[in-house]
Amino acid sequence: MGRVADLAGVSVRTLHHYDEIGLVRPSARTSAGYRAYSAADVERLREVLAYRRLGFGLQEVGELVGDPSTDAVARLRQLRGLLVERRDRTDAMVRAIDRELETRAKGLSVTPEEQLGVLGARLYDVIGGAYPATRRTEPRIAARIWEALGDAETVLNVGAGTGSYEPADREVTAVEPSEVMRGQRPADAAPCVAAAAESLPFEDDSYDVAMAVSTVHHWADPIAGLREMRRVARRVVVFTFDTDEPGWQDRFWLTRDYLPEFASVLEGFPSIAGMGDAIGARAEPVLVPWDCADGLFEAYWRRPEAYLEEHVRRAMSVWTRVGPEAEQRAVRRLDEDLASGRWAERNNELVDLDAADLGLRLLIA
Ligand SMILES: C[S@@+](CC[C@H](N)C(=O)[O-])C[C@H]1O[C@@H](n2cnc3c(N)ncnc32)[C@H](O)[C@@H]1O
Repeated sequence: MGRVADLAGVSVRTLHHYDEIGLVRPSARTSAGYRAYSAADVERLREVLAYRRLGFGLQEVGELVGDPSTDAVARLRQLRGLLVERRDRTDAMVRAIDRELETRAKGLSVTPEEQLGVLGARLYDVIGGAYPATRRTEPRIAARIWEALGDAETVLNVGAGTGSYEPADREVTAVEPSEVMRGQRPADAAPCVAAAAESLPFEDDSYDVAMAVSTVHHWADPIAGLREMRRVARRVVVFTFDTDEPGWQDRFWLTRDYLPEFASVLEGFPSIAGMGDAIGARAEPVLVPWDCADGLFEAYWRRPEAYLEEHVRRAMSVWTRVGPEAEQRAVRRLDEDLASGRWAERNNELVDLDAADLGLRLLIA
């Protein structure tokens, strides 16, 4: 045990503890009859220590290494993905510090998202708790996504969140990097792997189709994530946003008249044509119904009062990304315009519409 402890860089006490709780039990015997670590035990110990170093709790590690549906290769792939993600997050933290230094040097204020970036915090680990209040399946959007899945039997849902758009009649595997979001998945939801789109811990062509809903704009490298989806699945379906059209910021009155900062949130986001090319997809418009059940940013285009509600805004990442100054200003002006009748005057053509094209698109490859 002492030699294994030395090699693994842990104390003998730690090994005893793992033995007691059944995490890693030495199963071989020495010639003198003492218990010893077999090659398989050492492999398991290595996995346990790697997950521990990535910050997983003992119980979660036990579940990961004891999962009968995965093998050593699958776990190595998962560990690799988690490490690459950690490296990417460290790089992003350095970039965030550089950006914040630049912003401060210009005497400008720093948004909460910029501050979180410096901590390397995942946005959804901070705001995800507010998500289930209004975010749920919108059946008309779900129908479009499920139709695009075609006859696929195995589905990978990337950036799955709480699983709002996972079809019940297929074999689904979810991928979600945020612990808070994973923790909010219903007990009977599809199994969920902790990983990021940019480095999916699966072999080539493991799934019939990979889907991603309202998530690509959050990825550190959208094109890399889309290529990963293409690699691990034979087909790809992505529900995302089109910024190709000139003047796209003016499609929605909320961004046109109250929140121009929305454009900066999508700065650097690839064009719909570029994303389509990355996976060989065509793009189809998806209209937002006037009574959209999923509280996404565009959901309340015909119910403007909803944007005055704090709990509605907290379930939309845009508001955290633009920062409190822009948020308060936008909400105050909207409130004034609703009270004065100015909003109704400017948007009177909307009252007769049942659905609107606000730039949401389905990429199908
Ligand atoms: C707006 S939620 C959408 C969740 C779900 N797809 C839905 O439609 O309800 C965005 C999700 O993307 C996840 N996400 C952020 N960065 C990601 C990345 N690099 N790879 C995969 N998912 C990511 C977030 O943690 C969050 O759960």
